[in-house]
Amino acid sequence: NNIVVAIDGYSSCGKSTLAKALAKKLHFIYVDSGAMYRAVTLYFLRNNIDLHNHEQIAEALKDIHLNFHSRDYQTHITLNDEEVSDEIRLMPVSENVSAVSAVKEVRVEMVKQQQRMGQSKNVVMDGRDIGTVVFPHAQVKLFMTADPKIRAERRFKELAPKNPDITLEEVFENLAHRDYQDTTREESPLTRAEDAIILDNTDLTPDEQLQFALDKIEP
Ligand code: C5P
Repeated sequence: NNIVVAIDGYSSCGKSTLAKALAKKLHFIYVDSGAMYRAVTLYFLRNNIDLHNHEQIAEALKDIHLNFHSRDYQTHITLNDEEVSDEIRLMPVSENVSAVSAVKEVRVEMVKQQQRMGQSKNVVMDGRDIGTVVFPHAQVKLFMTADPKIRAERRFKELAPKNPDITLEEVFENLAHRDYQDTTREESPLTRAEDAIILDNTDLTPDEQLQFALDKIEP
C-alpha cells in the first residue's frame, strides 16, 4: 500500500519547506495543495468570477485544468497549460485565496483531485485539511505551528526580493487574516486532526524539523 504524509497548519508555518525536504529524502511525490487553491483564485480574479454565483463557479471549475511538474521538489503548477507558479504568490492572490477556498464547490473539486493524486503513489501533501478531510487515514499526520511574528518575518524575507513594495506589516496582516478566515469558515475549517502530531517550529531549524518528522515516520 502507498503511504501518505499529511502536513497541515497555519499560514507560513514552514509546511512546504518541511514537506519538500521530506519528499526529497523519502523519494515521495510532493503536492502543494495551497497552490491549487491559489491557481483557482488567479483564474477567478482574471475572469471576474462572482463568489456568490454558484452557476458561474461550477462553469469556471470545469474550465480549470491544473497540473503539477514537481521534478525538483519545488512547486511548478500550470493553469490551463500556463506556468503560474510565481503569479500565485503575489498579493492579489494571497488576499483573495481564503475567500475562494471557503466556497464549497471549490473544495469539493480540489479534494477530489488531491485524493486522486495520493491514491496509488507515496505522497507528502501540505495544506489545511489534508489530515482531516483529504486523507483522514493518512499514516503520518503533522500539525505545524509557529510564533506569528516569526512566520511573518520568514514570509517577508521570501517575498521581498520579488516584491519591492511589500512591507512586513502587510505580510503580518495577510497571514492573520487568512488564519482567521481558514479557521472560522464553514467548509472544512482548519483544525488539528485528533491523531496529528504537533510540530512547533518557532525555534527549530529546517534540519531539526526534518529529523523530527523522520523520527515519526521511521520509528
Ligand atoms: O498553503 P498556502 O498558504 O499557499 O494556501 C493558501 C490558502 O489556500 C490558505 O490560506 C487557505 O485559505 C487555502 N487552502 C485551503 N486548503 C488547503 C490548502 C490551502 O483552504 N488544503
